[in-house]
Amino acid sequence: MNKKKKIGILTSGGDCAGLNAVIRAVTRCAIKVHGWEVWGISKATHGLMSRPPEAIQLEVKQVDPFLTMSGTFLGTTNKGDPFAFPMPDGSLADRSNEIIEGYHQLGLDALIGIGGDGSLAILRKLAQQGNINLVGIPKTIDNDVGITERSIGFDTAVNIATEALDRLHFTAASHSRVMIVEVMGRDAGHIALNAGIAGGANIILIPEINYKLENICRQIKERQSRGRDYSIVIVSEAVCTESGELLEQGHFADCRLGGIGQYLAEKITEMSGAETRVTVLGHTQRGGISSPLDRILASAFGVAAVELIKQEKYDQMVTWQERSVKSVPIAEAIKDYRAVDPVGTLVKTARGLGICLGDDQKSDIQN
Ligand code: F6P
Repeated sequence: MNKKKKIGILTSGGDCAGLNAVIRAVTRCAIKVHGWEVWGISKATHGLMSRPPEAIQLEVKQVDPFLTMSGTFLGTTNKGDPFAFPMPDGSLADRSNEIIEGYHQLGLDALIGIGGDGSLAILRKLAQQGNINLVGIPKTIDNDVGITERSIGFDTAVNIATEALDRLHFTAASHSRVMIVEVMGRDAGHIALNAGIAGGANIILIPEINYKLENICRQIKERQSRGRDYSIVIVSEAVCTESGELLEQGHFADCRLGGIGQYLAEKITEMSGAETRVTVLGHTQRGGISSPLDRILASAFGVAAVELIKQEKYDQMVTWQERSVKSVPIAEAIKDYRAVDPVGTLVKTARGLGICLGDDQKSDIQN
């Protein structure tokens, strides 16, 4: 139980703010408090697939400067499921055993995997198959990992989207325009809903609530009739066209969501005559300096993950619940997808502020 441990850490899936802060917290706590060794694995599980495994021993003075920086200095990937890994000849191969061997070649006692629900499901499958002592930490700007109330990266993304709305108010008002801001979040509308409320949007469109274009245009016109001749619309990337089509960018295997902002702009101009402009925030939502809240969450999760390893409690994911860090079995943590609750507090808040959500429920409040 008290033997000096050698632990590995990797980041998997899309990057986000706060990842480096987790790596730093794990490294500091493991070295300074327990005197363990920490090994940073390159590019998610790809580092364990390489021979020799691509990993570096981490030191406190090396990780400290990364506290504020988003991205991950270990590198990551959201491609290449090890159980169906795309090979150069176009075939798919099961490379899971190479990753498991890589972990054992490094002589690790435990592995901390930082990822969203998809990455954590893959890491868990590898852990079960290969006797890997895994602890998971949830990260994603989408904030859609089942049980945890917060995932690393979400707060920074909301800050960036809110700041964009703050900036757009002035130019929208100056030119009497409808400004449409398209944000990420995949199938969940958390970023749009949170930033929309914080940034004073007039219309918030999320995948969890169906909209009608006529309701959006009515809101814009009502505002115009009250002399408020500009409007701010924030829309999640997975919101469909009115007829239910999901818009994607590119024609490659890795199709990405995008295009709903432009679609809405054209329709709104057509139906209301309003001049529209579109801002697609894209990957800016994952960049820059991490928010203090993400750094705090990352630090708390990192320390808690080390504590789980000390207690040899594996196959667990750390969570933020009821104002503190807890842990639950990974399988349970990722079982449910966390979408926006269409009758939850924040939706009620938006309606209470008179924000139009595009559906038929009309607020009595003028926005
Ligand atoms: O899951 C995080 C996320 O940023 C989504 O919000 C977005 O749809 C997607 O990743 C973008 O992926 P990529 O970095 O591959 O373009």
